[in-house]
Amino acid sequence: MLREPITVDPRLVEEIVMREEAEFRRRTPRSHEIHERAKKSMPAGVSSSFQAVPPYPLFISHAQGSHIWDYDGNEYADFHLGFGSLLVGHAHPLLVEALRDQLGKGSLYSLPGPDTVFLAEEMVRRFAPIEQVRFCNSGTEATMDALRVARAHVGRDKVVKIEGSYHGHHDTLLMSTKPSAADAGPADHPNTVPASQGIPGDVKNNTIIVPYNDPQALDRVLTEHAGEVAAVIIEPVMMNIGIVLPDENYLVSIREITLRHGVLLIFDEVKTGVTVAPGGITEIYPVQPDLICLAKSIGGGMPIGAFGGREELMRHITNWEVLHLGTFNGNPMSSRAALVTLTRVLIPEAHTHAHDLSKQLAASYTGIIEEFDMPMHVVQIGAKGCAMFSYPRARDYRTAWWHVDMRLSYAYWLFLANRGILFPPGLDDQWTISIQHTQADIDHHTHVFSQFVKELTR
Ligand SMILES: Cc1ncc(COP(=O)(O)O)c(C=O)c1O
Repeated sequence: MLREPITVDPRLVEEIVMREEAEFRRRTPRSHEIHERAKKSMPAGVSSSFQAVPPYPLFISHAQGSHIWDYDGNEYADFHLGFGSLLVGHAHPLLVEALRDQLGKGSLYSLPGPDTVFLAEEMVRRFAPIEQVRFCNSGTEATMDALRVARAHVGRDKVVKIEGSYHGHHDTLLMSTKPSAADAGPADHPNTVPASQGIPGDVKNNTIIVPYNDPQALDRVLTEHAGEVAAVIIEPVMMNIGIVLPDENYLVSIREITLRHGVLLIFDEVKTGVTVAPGGITEIYPVQPDLICLAKSIGGGMPIGAFGGREELMRHITNWEVLHLGTFNGNPMSSRAALVTLTRVLIPEAHTHAHDLSKQLAASYTGIIEEFDMPMHVVQIGAKGCAMFSYPRARDYRTAWWHVDMRLSYAYWLFLANRGILFPPGLDDQWTISIQHTQADIDHHTHVFSQFVKELTR
């Protein structure tokens, strides 16, 4: 049954934002100072525009375990964890030891080494859809390369992507990541909206947008574009608008639909990968995509990406029909880090520890939200979770994003940061609980969140 949430007074939210922003500035003058300096030599003062957040980015000095310290010496329990890339936490002793050892033996050969082979074997063992895998350096490369394999295999150019999904910053998929209501078009037939300037105008003609959790829309689009579409790429759980879970049977339905239309299905597991379950989404949902893409947490904090699937598809690379290249692909530092991460650090008990704490945090959030009738809901899966700043439960991009109170979410981020809880900025992301988080981290986080809600309802 739906509850009736309260309406949060926007004047109160504004008052909290003003006060917390002033406090943030008081606590972090050195971040501000170096950001001012950085803006002269780097656009927006950062290396990825995702880091350019108001009032200015926190600059970091070091991190250890589940904690991170900013340039002013403030300590935070880290729930950001490199946008979910550090399920292992920071500076895990096994990784420090392994990477020190590897650095002493050379950091790059651009010739293959045995660790990459052992890593590939572990990927085949862990991830059910993978018979063969290739490594690259980021999630962006993984989805770009997987698309190339899919297009070559099917012999068609068009791809279907979900409105509001993010798959990295290459041209084909940098479409309709956060389209505005003015641009997005009808809900069942969304426009393809480039998210950046500088993408050639005709690229968007090859990317078709459908809403999440709407199998009929996918079926219709594949019928309208019969014989034109190579692949459907999807975040099986949407994790770039907070978290939106698939309806029961949605993933099974789109598998059936793509098979019926002779179209490949690609799961982008860059975020879900090892964080939702040791073997990713296909361990939770009864569905097998043709290809999967991985990155982030498989690398234990080192840059790595991977894509893989059935041998019959990956054979296009073996046969030199599809070029997959990269100086740093399978480099010894990333390969060693990922190998140690997957075989020695992310053991079953470690996954269980992170999942249990994540479940506990979600239960506490839910209790607080329900006690105070906040206009929010909580979503959690594995080590990931978040409060969605919308109510009722979101089912797709439009219900998740267009209903969000952005000021409230900004107040939340500042309030947490000022009390030693670092959350990913913006509402795109969610918490990641690392295997090094402690009960004390969860208790502190819960306490701060309840303080925030009490303030809002005072
Ligand atoms: C689902 C998903 N795919 C791909 C990417 C791109 O990964 P990277 O930032 O490593 O290029 C991201 C990044 O956040 C992502 O969330």
